[in-house]
Amino acid sequence: MLHEPVRNLLTNVRTLAIVCTQWGDTGKGKFVDFFADWADIIARGTGGANAGHTIVLNGVEHIFHLVPSGILYDGDGKLNIIGNGTVIDPHVILQELSLLRAAGLPYNHLLISLNAKLILPQHIVLDRVRERVWDKSIGTTGRGIGPAYEDYYGRTALVMNDLLNVDVFVAKLRRNLRDKVAFLAAVDPAIVHEIMQHEHLANGRYWSASTMFSEEAIVAAYRNYGQALYDHLADTDIILQRSVGKRNILLEGAQGHLLSVHYGSYPFVTSSDCSVRGLAQGVGLSERAVDRVWGIVKAFFMTRVGNGPFPTEFGNEESATWCATKGVTRTSEREHFGEVSVNDPNPFFQGVGVRMAAGEYGATTGRPRRTGWLDLPLLRYAVRTGCTDGLILTKLDSLDACTTIKLCTRYRYDGPDCWRGNYLLTNGSTLDVAIPEASILQHCTPLYQEFPGWCTPIGDIRKRSSLPCALTKLVRYVEQDIGKPAVILSVGRDREQTIVR
Ligand code: IMO
Ligand code: MG
Repeated sequence: MLHEPVRNLLTNVRTLAIVCTQWGDTGKGKFVDFFADWADIIARGTGGANAGHTIVLNGVEHIFHLVPSGILYDGDGKLNIIGNGTVIDPHVILQELSLLRAAGLPYNHLLISLNAKLILPQHIVLDRVRERVWDKSIGTTGRGIGPAYEDYYGRTALVMNDLLNVDVFVAKLRRNLRDKVAFLAAVDPAIVHEIMQHEHLANGRYWSASTMFSEEAIVAAYRNYGQALYDHLADTDIILQRSVGKRNILLEGAQGHLLSVHYGSYPFVTSSDCSVRGLAQGVGLSERAVDRVWGIVKAFFMTRVGNGPFPTEFGNEESATWCATKGVTRTSEREHFGEVSVNDPNPFFQGVGVRMAAGEYGATTGRPRRTGWLDLPLLRYAVRTGCTDGLILTKLDSLDACTTIKLCTRYRYDGPDCWRGNYLLTNGSTLDVAIPEASILQHCTPLYQEFPGWCTPIGDIRKRSSLPCALTKLVRYVEQDIGKPAVILSVGRDREQTIVR
């Protein structure tokens, strides 16, 4: 049963998209779960196993990458769809299905698009080799995402339906491997061999000393995958196209607007368009079919995993370097630094304190997420280019103990002269709306406005009028600045810890 405020929010809405306005990890999973009750169909349209969302099964937390967050509603007959715009590692999805099976949870209504792109072992190898040998790596999740999308646009990709036709699979695989082997031949074979031992590459099963990749081993494994996934493959585009305006459709964003290959901090982005446009297209719909777009904003801090500019990062380079250090995890960080305060006067440590308070460690890779203050120039940009109708502010409770909250309201450009068309950006200019390209963003220094923190726990508050004044002031400030209402405030992980406008 939907609560009345939620029902009111969804009046006249048939297709709702929930997307992240930042660099991912804003709690999309919680809100997809929240609205899954309302939805008849929950669909993902971009990304692959680079995404990570936590689903609680019988009280135990599991991290899922590919299965949509609405899967727990399968028993109610809701369709969960993985659309044509995604890239699928069949091994990962089968692992997720076996976790569901072990927990006694059904997934009878899970459908995967026939045209979703296949991740093959060579994609994972290429992704990892590049990260290893490039001087300025992207800091990818190592799941083969970039190479798989490149193949699609390079017209050499394989799609899910190819799993069902062995001859087609083999012919396409051979062609695809040819280019990859030619490229990898220039890399130290010891590196390739070592990478191939990874568990995501079946612990070395695909390695061949003579041909680099064992075609036989790949065909055998993927043939089994085809058999195991047979019941779940379908023309999902048609299902969604026919359902528009008739059934409630919830589009589940992956990654975030600032990671979109079209709109993000290029080149430090993922290889799909994870904006609402890419999401709609990735399930076979036009963005015009989307009645409402709600953008999730982590507030009043933000995070980023992987490399690339992050103007408001606590502790800047020191934080970026620390978070990129191999082997740093939630546990090792705590052992290393002990308890760290969110009010630490040293910005680097304040960043560690915020990470600890908010539990910001990657769901997919376990990496510590870089933390920084909420960046309004970037948010203005994301909302303007992302068709956002309203904001969902999440993680508000993480800063309960913070005595001062800083909002980045503008940037000062501190870089070399740079032409933007016929406009010259010069050292010292100020910017209200971010220009996300990394070459510019990396020279932007945040200018802050300070606000007093609310300094009281808010996790039990369920009404907007009961929020502490200092917090209400901040929420209003953001709403007015961005020109969009905050339709939902999240004050904790639990479903109930949600304040609807
Ligand atoms: P969810 O859905 C945060 C980042 C990676 C890297 C860049 C490119 O959980 O919000 P890729 O492996 O996609 O080629 O890596 O994108 N990235 C994410 N960061 N959350 C995600 O997904 C991400 N998916 C990719 O860290 O910087
Ligand atoms: Mg994530």
